[in-house]
Amino acid sequence: MKTIGILTSGGDAPGMNAAIRAVVRSAIYYGCKVYGINRGYKGLIEEDIQEMNLSSVGDIIHRGGTVLKSSRCEEFKTEEGRAIGVEVLKKFGIDCLVVIGGDGSFNGALKLSQLGFPAIGIPGTIDNDLAYTDYTIGFDTTMNTIIDAIGKIRDTSSSHERVNIIEVMGRHCGDLALYAGLAGGAETIIVPEVEFKVEDVCTKLKTTQKRGKRHSIIVLAEGVGNAQDLGKEIVKETGADLRVTILGHVQRGGSPTAFDRILASRMGVRAVELLLDGKAAKVVGIKDNKIIDMDINEALSMTRDFDKDTYEMVKILSI
Ligand code: ADP
Ligand code: F6P
Repeated sequence: MKTIGILTSGGDAPGMNAAIRAVVRSAIYYGCKVYGINRGYKGLIEEDIQEMNLSSVGDIIHRGGTVLKSSRCEEFKTEEGRAIGVEVLKKFGIDCLVVIGGDGSFNGALKLSQLGFPAIGIPGTIDNDLAYTDYTIGFDTTMNTIIDAIGKIRDTSSSHERVNIIEVMGRHCGDLALYAGLAGGAETIIVPEVEFKVEDVCTKLKTTQKRGKRHSIIVLAEGVGNAQDLGKEIVKETGADLRVTILGHVQRGGSPTAFDRILASRMGVRAVELLLDGKAAKVVGIKDNKIIDMDINEALSMTRDFDKDTYEMVKILSI
């Protein structure tokens, strides 16, 4: 019988709870003991750990956030910090670990595996910035939160005949802006992966104004730069009545969509099966709707291809 530890780390994402539930329930189904480690690697170092049972994960599949809490822990980036972590894992009799988080958290899992401690990563981040997987847990829910916001802003934008810039999260990745912008019918989408010129944005605004369209939605990915500064430049050039909305952390919360709950459940079960097969230093992902696994090293070394085709398609649809 194996003893499995589980933690969530980095920025939280809707669906993390469904993943925790899947790991705990499947581990217990296969006869394992499970320990929940609170507040990511910080809680590991501080021994903030408790045993989990079937009811620890009851009534959480629909809840945003993470019941295990999350944090960012600088100490774990040091050899000393990780050595304490491994000692704590041994002290609790934990044989292997499931880490739910983004690339930073996976780096921590990789370092643990290099110290001889088996760890498996599950991608939990709203950013969808991991190259090896088509989707990360939380991305779909956040897209839906964003299109809800775009719809509401569109109402007032249309009434007041304004230009509205909506800044969305994603760190250095433009996926949230691209796909939520497409689904929300944005006139302009600006992402870090594609260079843009303010003059082009202004020319487009002037052209659409000429044909009688007097309101416009610009979705801006946070990785591009400051939304207020961009707004000022556009006002200077076009004289538009313009407002900026920075959506912020509303994008990180909320009940996960069916897609994220299903993805998290499938990934959670696969992570446990990998550990039971004696695998280490792997990450779970999804490719062409099939759950896959891959060495963490390989996954982290992949560079993400931006979906330029969809980006170009949006330009056609928003003429
Ligand atoms: P995410 O996992 O969402 O990318 P972060 O980049 O903030 O979020 O990373 C989460 C945590 O993972 C960090 O606070 C740190 O504890 C751990 N971590 C990140 N990078 C490393 C690393 N190179 N080595 C060890 N641990 C790391
Ligand atoms: O990685 C998730 C994310 O929400 C990014 O989109 C954003 O840049 C960052 O985390 C915000 O981090 P914090 O939780 O520190 O505000």
